[in-house]
Amino acid sequence: MDSEPTFSQTNPQAVAVGQPLSRVDGRAKVTGAAKYSAEYNNLPGLVHAVFKTSDVAKGRITGIDTSAAQREPGVLAILTHQNLPKPALTAESEAGKKAIGPSVQMSFLPLQSDQVFYAGQPVAVVVADTLEHAQHAATKLHVAIAPETPIASYQDPKTQLFNPGGKPDAEGTKSRGKAAAAFAAAPVQLTATYTHATNHHNPMEPGATIAQWEAADRLTIYDTAQGVSWQQRAVAAYMGLPNDQVRVITKYLGGGFGCKGPIWPHTVLTALTAKAVGRPVKLVLTRPQMFTSMGHREDQEQTLRLGATKEGELLAMLHEKHSTTSQWDDYAESNSKIIRMLYACPAFEATTKLARANVITPSWMRAPGEAPGSFAIECALDDLAAQLGLDPLEIRLRNYADKDPSTGQPWSSKSLKQCYQRGAELFGWNKRNPKNGATRDGKTLVGYGMATASYPVHSSQGNARVRLYADGHAVVQVGATDLGTGTYTIGTQVAADALGIAPDKVRFELGDTMLPTTNISGGSMGAGTFSSSIYVATQSVWQQLTKLAVQDTKSPLFRAKPTDVEVVKGRLQLKANPSKGEGFADLMKRADILDLEGSGQGKYGAGYESGLAAGAAKSDDAGKEATGQHAMHSFGAHFCEVHVDPDLGTVRVTRWVSVVAGGRILNSKTARSQIMGGGIMGIGAALMEQAVRDPNLARYTNANLADYHMPVNADIPDMTVEFIDEKDSYVNAMGVKGIGEISIVGTAAAVGNAIFHATGRRLRDLPMTPNKVLAAMNQSLKA
Ligand code: MOS
Repeated sequence: MDSEPTFSQTNPQAVAVGQPLSRVDGRAKVTGAAKYSAEYNNLPGLVHAVFKTSDVAKGRITGIDTSAAQREPGVLAILTHQNLPKPALTAESEAGKKAIGPSVQMSFLPLQSDQVFYAGQPVAVVVADTLEHAQHAATKLHVAIAPETPIASYQDPKTQLFNPGGKPDAEGTKSRGKAAAAFAAAPVQLTATYTHATNHHNPMEPGATIAQWEAADRLTIYDTAQGVSWQQRAVAAYMGLPNDQVRVITKYLGGGFGCKGPIWPHTVLTALTAKAVGRPVKLVLTRPQMFTSMGHREDQEQTLRLGATKEGELLAMLHEKHSTTSQWDDYAESNSKIIRMLYACPAFEATTKLARANVITPSWMRAPGEAPGSFAIECALDDLAAQLGLDPLEIRLRNYADKDPSTGQPWSSKSLKQCYQRGAELFGWNKRNPKNGATRDGKTLVGYGMATASYPVHSSQGNARVRLYADGHAVVQVGATDLGTGTYTIGTQVAADALGIAPDKVRFELGDTMLPTTNISGGSMGAGTFSSSIYVATQSVWQQLTKLAVQDTKSPLFRAKPTDVEVVKGRLQLKANPSKGEGFADLMKRADILDLEGSGQGKYGAGYESGLAAGAAKSDDAGKEATGQHAMHSFGAHFCEVHVDPDLGTVRVTRWVSVVAGGRILNSKTARSQIMGGGIMGIGAALMEQAVRDPNLARYTNANLADYHMPVNADIPDMTVEFIDEKDSYVNAMGVKGIGEISIVGTAAAVGNAIFHATGRRLRDLPMTPNKVLAAMNQSLKA
């Protein structure tokens, strides 16, 4: 890749962008100098809070005995629904929801009444001088709860599925054609149901908040947030303060995967606790509490019906999803939106039904909707191919969508065919025996599977500030967050190239609401948004300097027309005669300007047409608003080899290839890591991950990382990742589509399809654990 590393007309020989620059924050991280949100331990008077949580999933608090806990050393306060300060509002009212904003998924705030709705619900906050004192005192605190019979999931016969009126799946419910009739008339029909276990994000760094009231009406929050400005708006609304009186800081984040996108109760409760005790308060969720505090991918089942011709061309798709949600909110991940757009098919329909249970509200988890939705469509298509005797790749090519099948819009760019071709080549797909169950390595069954990946380019925007100094360094600021994925690094690279200075001359700052507002690092929007805003901000710097140059009698550009001036590697020069010009430092020094600031807004999606990404030579092409008539998606393909032990039912992923077309790749090393990480997470969902709620108690039985299985190094083979060099002139100024989520899309299906090829047995129940593999194999032995 990166054979053509051009990125803008200001710097046609971009040196940093696209390069595998090692993380600029790597040294700070490995030496412990990087300060995570729970590590601001020097705040004067900092005290520690822990939650006492309910073991009961439904009930009512009948008594609280704090006497023993109060006597324990170091205890400063015990706060319950009886004495915790009340928030100005909560998201339970429509007005509250509106004020708190888009970041709230769970409208319920605990510790407001005696009612218990889920196991793990905080019923008290214990505050002490040390963490250990708080933890110990919490064990001496007695909260009596009269239990009632809870509902554990949509599968509970006591619950009733309801249609949420299209709300949570509004996109997915968009239908086209007459799907039911087209399905009924289709010569080939296929119906299958797929289930997905509850999955939890479990980033290495748990949710954590430090709340410090500098005055009665001024609050600083050090939080684990994917978006500081979203968090600021929400906290301000809960506290009844204007936004500018709440500052949110997230300098480093130890992973997020979506669970740190919304605001969750612990942040609000920590702020209220700090108010009550008049000291800065730190609260860090425990690993078990991570299963009941920050959302999860909901347990769900989806039934997909495909109608097709005998040649394998899709005629109809009907999708129905059932899932579990909380007592208060209608959240459901929108699986059908990928089914709607992935292949050319004239008729499509989707419905969603929910069941209320005694759980917290589920929420975004990496590729919410696309990840499980792709499991259904990509397994179904594989089944269809097998039924018709077609190669899995061939059936995908027969249904290739040359335009967005749901809107008819052309794609801003689509390099999926190149992904298929390159992936097949890297993997050796042509060596695949078309017959299932026919490839062996000794006793072990070997299977090859593949699947398509795609993720939308969501509309987004954000601001950046760039300050360029005459001594040749720059300070670049964006209120973005770095989930650990490389934001500091790619921000540095983009700024360095756009300013024509070396990356080590860029000081890149993020993670603070005092900095220019940008969108959350979520929805694969972060990189495209802030890189574009940085780029646009540098253009403002160059405009100011160009103006200065043409008015400066001592400048070689004196009296030139500003539009005749270009900037190449920090040198302002005449387009027609590049030898006539000077570097920005000379110009600034002569004018006695120590530094100069520019700001800019980067827009993402929604038809931002840019001449930059296309490498256009005219600077006035930059930032042109386009018509918004393009459908924008990243695309990719995964290829997977598995070894299945027929006696034990164990599945090992032995080879993996992902090829992704995601627009411009800003750093080939961090991008590769992103794709590997998402792939590994998807392999986890495919083979291991499941949070189990006891069907009677609605309590998690494996809320820890020993019993909640996820892949470790020994489970993962060498992964091959490649990117297709893709120019997209429509997505944003930098042509970046975003790659945070696409790698988990189609992943579980690629594994399932490989198991199908190895064994001839189709597994549709995630995770595909050895017991299920064995059951499938035994079942068909009997048949
Ligand atoms: Mo992601 S689930 O948008 O952080």
